[in-house]
Amino acid sequence: MILAKTEEEIELLRLNHEIVSKTLAEVARLIRPGVTTLELDRRAEEFIRDNGAKPGFLGYHGYPNTLCTSVNSAVVHGIPKGDSLRDGDIVSIDCGTFMHGFYGDSAYTFMIGEVSPEVQRLIKVTRECLELGINKAIDGLRVGDISSIVQQHAEDNGYSVVRELVGHGIGRNMHEKPEVPNYGIRGNGPKLVSGMVICIEPMINMGSKQIFQEQDGWTIKTVDGKPSAHFELAVVIRKNKAEQLSTFKYIDEVLKAVN
Ligand code: MF3
Ligand code: CO
Repeated sequence: MILAKTEEEIELLRLNHEIVSKTLAEVARLIRPGVTTLELDRRAEEFIRDNGAKPGFLGYHGYPNTLCTSVNSAVVHGIPKGDSLRDGDIVSIDCGTFMHGFYGDSAYTFMIGEVSPEVQRLIKVTRECLELGINKAIDGLRVGDISSIVQQHAEDNGYSVVRELVGHGIGRNMHEKPEVPNYGIRGNGPKLVSGMVICIEPMINMGSKQIFQEQDGWTIKTVDGKPSAHFELAVVIRKNKAEQLSTFKYIDEVLKAVN
């Protein structure tokens, strides 16, 4: 089975991830105490459609919304609601698009107002885990090289890695081979080859790694109720350095302007 994409396919994945990246920045503009996750969801859907794409998650295995909004002890797959976000909360916003037959998929964990230093550190380390993973997303290495460095950085900082949910290839399907776990052994797993497009998405818990699924059939939460952070970017495997298809630069610009 050939996992590498053609440059034409990569171009379509790039268009999707450009919209995903900009949608997350539109959401960033609305982030403040009092906003509801449903308001963020509506804005994201509007922006995606205005840009000629469709929400990639809406209807996916029956998922009811455009965004996954996972607050505090929610890890991923939180369903947007009419409840207000409050000062001190954190929220993972995961966004997907579908356009020209391909998907886009990325996520960012936002802070609402003043967040405790402990939780700020969780977010910082989780983002570092993603960056370290991306540095290993190069031709000739293996998935386990990404997995192991993500796990090591999380655990070195006293955190734990969610096992049940993993990163993934992306293309004409949102979830393709290979699986990209956030834990593993250096030198193990499928080989990374130029042209493969993968989503790396560390889900890092402040406390124990144990999770459960809420009664809503979607929201994944930590068993101990402690917070969890999540960042996701899509990259192309290249010879010496991964090429990012999605980016946090638009979000960072928005957050710099308002803070
Ligand atoms: N970004 C999520 C993932 O990679 C996709 C969630 S799609 C949903 O698992 F529709 F299931 F929410
Ligand atoms: Co994903």
